[in-house]
Amino acid sequence: MGIDARIFKTLERNNINVSIVSQGSSERGIGLVVDSNKAKWAKNALDAEFEGDYATKDINMITVMEEVSVVSIVGQDLSTFHLPYNALIKNQIVPLLFNNTVSGKNVSLVVKKTDLNKALNVMHGQIFGISNKVNLALFGHGNVGGTLIDQILKSAKSIEERKGIDVRIFAIANSRKVLFDKKGVSKNWKHAIQEKGISYTLDDIFAYARDNHLENLIAVDNTASQDFVGHYLDFVSNGFDLVSSNKIANTLGFDYYRSLRAELAKKQKQYLYETNVGAGLPLIDTIKLLHLSGENITRIKGVFSGSLSYIFNTFSESEKRFSEILKDAMNSGYTEPDPREDLSGNDVGRKLLILARELDLSNEFPDIDIENLIPETLRKGKVEEFLTQLDVLDEKFEAIKERQQQDHVLRYVGDLYGDLQKEKGILEVKLISVPKQSALGQVKGSDSIIEIYTESYGEHPLVIQGAGAGAAVTARGVFGDILRIADKGRKI
Ligand SMILES: NC(=O)c1ccc[n+]([C@@H]2O[C@H](COP(=O)([O-])OP(=O)(O)OC[C@H]3O[C@@H](n4cnc5c(N)ncnc54)[C@H](OP(=O)(O)O)[C@@H]3O)[C@@H](O)[C@H]2O)c1
Repeated sequence: MGIDARIFKTLERNNINVSIVSQGSSERGIGLVVDSNKAKWAKNALDAEFEGDYATKDINMITVMEEVSVVSIVGQDLSTFHLPYNALIKNQIVPLLFNNTVSGKNVSLVVKKTDLNKALNVMHGQIFGISNKVNLALFGHGNVGGTLIDQILKSAKSIEERKGIDVRIFAIANSRKVLFDKKGVSKNWKHAIQEKGISYTLDDIFAYARDNHLENLIAVDNTASQDFVGHYLDFVSNGFDLVSSNKIANTLGFDYYRSLRAELAKKQKQYLYETNVGAGLPLIDTIKLLHLSGENITRIKGVFSGSLSYIFNTFSESEKRFSEILKDAMNSGYTEPDPREDLSGNDVGRKLLILARELDLSNEFPDIDIENLIPETLRKGKVEEFLTQLDVLDEKFEAIKERQQQDHVLRYVGDLYGDLQKEKGILEVKLISVPKQSALGQVKGSDSIIEIYTESYGEHPLVIQGAGAGAAVTARGVFGDILRIADKGRKI
């Protein structure tokens, strides 16, 4: 008698009914669902029946898995079963057993009891075409994060109507407090975080999502914190996709850059960061697609900093002193509180590095040749002291302006070039003088402009230009990344 027949005869003798059977075609294992109060009894009976087979190693082990639930989907056509199935996997729910009828449209899955509610939430969205819930945990509610929350709350209803995506913010956190609401925070979130915010660790956030069976989780990083980036892998392990306006994760060592991506691939999670360069401009996605399609990108050059764009556009056109323009930029909120962070060129360097890595170049931050615009003597010390010595900058930049050829203007650019098919490219951040009529020369206000040179575009680069900084455009770009992940989840 075959193994299967002996199993069923033994269970029949012991009056144990089997509700689901699932077996691999190679007969390497068979799974059965029986009443939980009869599971141990069934195991004992089968152990006795197969005692001799254990000795000959024809049987390896018989185990009981408790606390499982059966989900039956009646009317589910197998041709579209991949949608709920993939949605389960994406939410880290791996079915233990799977069973279908040959003629009818009936599929049953066995899942851990602790996963049951989440599994039902996930599959309802996919099977019955009701809106797919996307649950967001937002970190940082300053300029960008706060604007993003308001944008999401304003558009949520129309996105649900148009796209069938129900975007909810279940957690808003700053460095000290978190506000939880499993149904999604409402318009008065600023007041609520003051009144109901509680101190937290990230484990509290993971536990809240788990205990409330929240599906399709996305963590959104709108901080500028390196500490927070240190937890990205924890988010991935806990089933979150990631969206970030924070540039730090992409400019740490190349080993970390690679290991984060390997972990994301292993856990089938996404990490999107379109706003890392050029804020809301569609730059990273364009470069990714060109590169993926095999287009040979030969050079990327542009004005990446909104504050330095404003400063040099104004300085080149007007008679005002450099220091006056710098102060105007500070008062308009274009620069960091200490403008030396902009003038050092490090921020432009970081953006250029992020683009280089999109082309699979393994450059590190110290590889970048950065022309620091701050004279050596003014690099250290308090910002107040620095601001009393701006005449040194006036002299320096006036001399550079006068040395230019006629009809030329100054631009502070990032330039990635060299043999970009090799392991590393050449990355330079520098002040250059360009003809006023050139694309770079015509950029206005605090706009960014980026030229992408490729083999197909030849001498005429693809040019992306527009507002490359500001809370509203950056938040809109972050929102776009969230919707990209949500939309992909709907069609998996
Ligand atoms: N503004 C732009 O044009 C632009 C463009 C592209 C990218 N970005 C990037 O966007 C990010 C946010 O910029 P922002 O101007 O909105 O900054 P911000 O106004 O200074 O706000 C930062 C927020 O992050 C929170 N935070 C800091 N450390 C945290 C931690 N460890 N855990 C949780 N929350 C933490 C802060 O909370 P506390 O009050 O508790 O510290 C605050 O709510 C930055 O990375 C920036 O580089 C900005």
